[in-house]
Amino acid sequence: MSEENKLIVLYGTETGNSELLSMDICKAAEDAGMEAVAFGMDEIESEDMLSYSRLLIVCSTWGDGEQPDNAMDLFEYAEELGDGDLANMSFSVLALGDTAFDLFCEAGKEWDRVLEEKGGTRIAERMDCDVDYEDDAEEWIEEVVGALQAL
Ligand SMILES: Cc1cc2nc3c(=O)[nH]c(=O)nc-3n(C[C@H](O)[C@H](O)[C@H](O)COP(=O)(O)O)c2cc1C
Repeated sequence: MSEENKLIVLYGTETGNSELLSMDICKAAEDAGMEAVAFGMDEIESEDMLSYSRLLIVCSTWGDGEQPDNAMDLFEYAEELGDGDLANMSFSVLALGDTAFDLFCEAGKEWDRVLEEKGGTRIAERMDCDVDYEDDAEEWIEEVVGALQAL
C-alpha cells in the first residue's frame, strides 16, 4: 500500500499520554484492516506530512496554552503552508488537556483550525479531553476509524 492511503498518527506530547493513545489508535485502525503508522511530531521531516492523505493528530497542551516541545516545529511548518496545500488530506484531532487551565486543549484546537485553514477535510469533530481522557478518547477512536473506513 502506498503512503497515500496509509494512516499517519502524529502525536505532540510531554509526558507520554498522547503517545500511548496513538498506539491505541494504530491498533484500532489495523484491527479494521488499515495500515497505520505513528510518529512523534519531531520524528518526521515536516514536509513528509504532505505525502499522506489521512492524518490524525493527538496533541496535549502545555505551559499556558502552548504546544508541547516536540510539536513546536511541525506546528510552525503547518501554519506556514499555503491555503489549499492540504486539499487532499482527511484529518481529525484528539486534544488532551485539563479543564483546570484557562486555555483548555488550546494546542489541539490550534491544530484543528490550521489543518482546516490549509484545505484539509475534517472527517470527525475534534474531541477535547480532560485529565480522565480514556472514555472520550475511546469514543473518538471508534468514530474516526468508522469515518476512515467510509472514505
Ligand atoms: C505544567 C503543565 C501545564 C499544562 N498546561 C495546560 C494548558 O494550558 N491547557 C490544558 O488544557 N492542559 C494543560 N496541561 C494538562 C496536559 O495537557 C494534560 O496533562 C495532558 O494529558 C498531558 O498529555 P501528554 O502526556 O501527552 O503531554 C498542563 C499540564 C502541566 C503539567
